[in-house]
Amino acid sequence: MPPKIIQTRSSSPWKRRVGACIAKCTVTAGWRTKVCRNVNMEKLQNDYLFPEITTRRFEHIQKYPDAKLISLGIGDTTQPIPNIVTSAMAEYLLKVYKPCFSLWNVKIDSPLNIQKLHKRLNVVLYFQRLVNPYDGLQYSLALSTIEGYSGYGAEQGQQALRKAISETIYRDLGIKDTEIFVSDGAQSDIARLQMLLGSNVTVALQDPTFPAYIDTSVIMGQAGDFQEDSDKYGNIEYMKCSPANFFFPDLSTISRTDIIFLCSPNNPTGYAVSREQLKELVEFAKENGSIIIYDSSYSAYISDDSPRSIFEIPGAREVAIEISSFSKFAGFTGVRLGWTVVPEELLYSNGYPVVKDFNRIVCTCFNGASNIAQAGGLACLSSEGLTAIHGVVNFYKENAEIIAETFSSLGLEVYGGKNSPYTWVHFPGQKSWDVFNEILEKTHIITVPGRGFGPAGEGFIRVGAFGHRDSILEASRRLKNHLR
Ligand SMILES: Cc1ncc(COP(=O)(O)O)c(C=O)c1O
Repeated sequence: MPPKIIQTRSSSPWKRRVGACIAKCTVTAGWRTKVCRNVNMEKLQNDYLFPEITTRRFEHIQKYPDAKLISLGIGDTTQPIPNIVTSAMAEYLLKVYKPCFSLWNVKIDSPLNIQKLHKRLNVVLYFQRLVNPYDGLQYSLALSTIEGYSGYGAEQGQQALRKAISETIYRDLGIKDTEIFVSDGAQSDIARLQMLLGSNVTVALQDPTFPAYIDTSVIMGQAGDFQEDSDKYGNIEYMKCSPANFFFPDLSTISRTDIIFLCSPNNPTGYAVSREQLKELVEFAKENGSIIIYDSSYSAYISDDSPRSIFEIPGAREVAIEISSFSKFAGFTGVRLGWTVVPEELLYSNGYPVVKDFNRIVCTCFNGASNIAQAGGLACLSSEGLTAIHGVVNFYKENAEIIAETFSSLGLEVYGGKNSPYTWVHFPGQKSWDVFNEILEKTHIITVPGRGFGPAGEGFIRVGAFGHRDSILEASRRLKNHLR
């Protein structure tokens, strides 16, 4: 029987030496291995933010089993993926029927035709199943056939998709398809980039920040111990972003680090950096010989002149890597698809190109994104695909407007929401977990406490716009009625 391990969370964990291991206060029952816990895992302070919210949500449901809970918390999308994209994924599975397509003289490149084909195929499959139910099912999916089967693809991603990202997302920015690495999502690439950088680099990040950057830094061993007095890890440069500095760090007060994580539009504050600010950051990185890891996962939400990519800034190719995602852009949170751009001009201090090492990491630690997901990604970047997914993004932006108006009408300072699906609401003088609990208790609405994104998130909550419209309107009613 595997050992049962019950973790206890404690603000002042007792430590003891077991050989070279430092063990936190853990209660174990049963047989133990002789394997030491990774000391870097030991350093991580909290459970990851979102599982903690899930626990509180579960406790709330147990307390109020009849309450209709609305989640404006975790940034998961809810709107269906446009038909043109799902059709492309289904077509990938059905491609064994390509000969039928030519027999029926129907092209497979327009969404309408794909729908027509699916109808005809359904008829064929229906009769096949009548004749032999097992054959029918087996032949319905190309990947189940000798003719339609395909295995590993290129680790870096399908050539057609890399080209489409280069031509559609980066248009005239001169990003080559060979500089684009298709991934199974931005979060996995954050971890792969950390593996690339190793444990000896120094890191700066925005405070508040998307938790994956800091937690992966701690796991890699880049951070020092957690300092209880400041609520920060040692060895990490926290770049405070608040209304006082318009959510952009005062770079004159920031120490030089090897790596600078920057996310725009930002999760959680919803703030998109301006062109001037990003120019300032690129110059700062150049002066210091640093690498910026720029997360543009929410760039599709930008509606003003803010840059959608760091490569819009002259000189960025020598100092920046960009990670991005189809998750919030096309509702692929469950499908899983993203990409990373590593420009050829980005060099280590010894002159070796970073792109070559990243290629090595991708080939060694990742065998390429799902071919079905990539078929969907390609459809997203067609002109009909882009029109359809922009419709969904606009829907979420309207939700964000409703949310921002709701909190403003309650007399609260509201940030973000304009270039982002996230609204960042200020509750001065209050603890954000208390605000989270109060909103949950009074309105049965889940938000995210700003403190979970770093010490500068204290006093704020993040409210996401990824709900169905009726939930957003209902949430707005409840908030206006119960928070006045
Ligand atoms: C800033 C940011 N980057 C990356 C991710 C993860 O994206 P993916 O779903 O592509 O892993 C998220 C998800 O919420 C995010 O907010």
